[in-house]
Amino acid sequence: MPIDLPGTPLRKAIKASKLINGKLIEIIKQRKADLADGKASLTQDILSHMLMTCNEDGTYMKELDMATKIMGMLIGGYEAVDAVCTLIVKFLAKFPHIYDAVYKEQMEIANLKAPRELLNWDDIQKMKHLWNVAQEVMRLTPPIQGSFKEASTDFVFNGYTIPKGTGPTPYTYVPFGGGPMICPDKEYARLEILVFMHNLV
Ligand code: HEM
Repeated sequence: MPIDLPGTPLRKAIKASKLINGKLIEIIKQRKADLADGKASLTQDILSHMLMTCNEDGTYMKELDMATKIMGMLIGGYEAVDAVCTLIVKFLAKFPHIYDAVYKEQMEIANLKAPRELLNWDDIQKMKHLWNVAQEVMRLTPPIQGSFKEASTDFVFNGYTIPKGTGPTPYTYVPFGGGPMICPDKEYARLEILVFMHNLV
């Protein structure tokens, strides 16, 4: 329950987030100074992009908002991908014939590489079976649950009438959400899952 009392996990989380935001704001200030001095690149990472991009009204994002977004990306970037990889391992252990097919596909890719040669974009595109498995795992056990969406009014889309209250039926494949708030890093997540699972398998 979100009750802010001493000793509760919520109170500890609020304290921790203040500490982390303070550290992130130091990094943001340092980057601002480095950009002004030409010591950092304008395109080096998302922090530079956030500092250099203004809103439509010409204002820039506040430091605390940037820190909050960075925290969102850190949490999203670790926990959901970890959960998917863990669940893929669980399902591969349960269905050996699926593991065999994934292993065969990954070994075909690995066997065409020179020793210690890193994976490249074309290799990733070949991992079709592994990605099918990952998608099926995310359909059955979505790592982020509870971000339900349902139609708030009746509306017409592409000629179909969608009545108020319509929501996805259980086991619909929407692990990354949908619409304007869809996970912005879903392609990066795909890359992380495929590279990690390739090495593990
Ligand atoms: C398998 C991995 C992942 C899954 C299943 C996943 C899932 C989701 C879901 C369901 C949402 C909410 C979408 C909605 O409200 O409709 C979301 C939002 C978000 N995700 Fe992911 N995500 C994953 C990986 C990542 C990674 C790797 C990052 C960052 C590096 C990330 C960053 C974000 C951010 C910043 C948002 C908030 C977007 C917004 O509010 O506009 N996610 N993700």
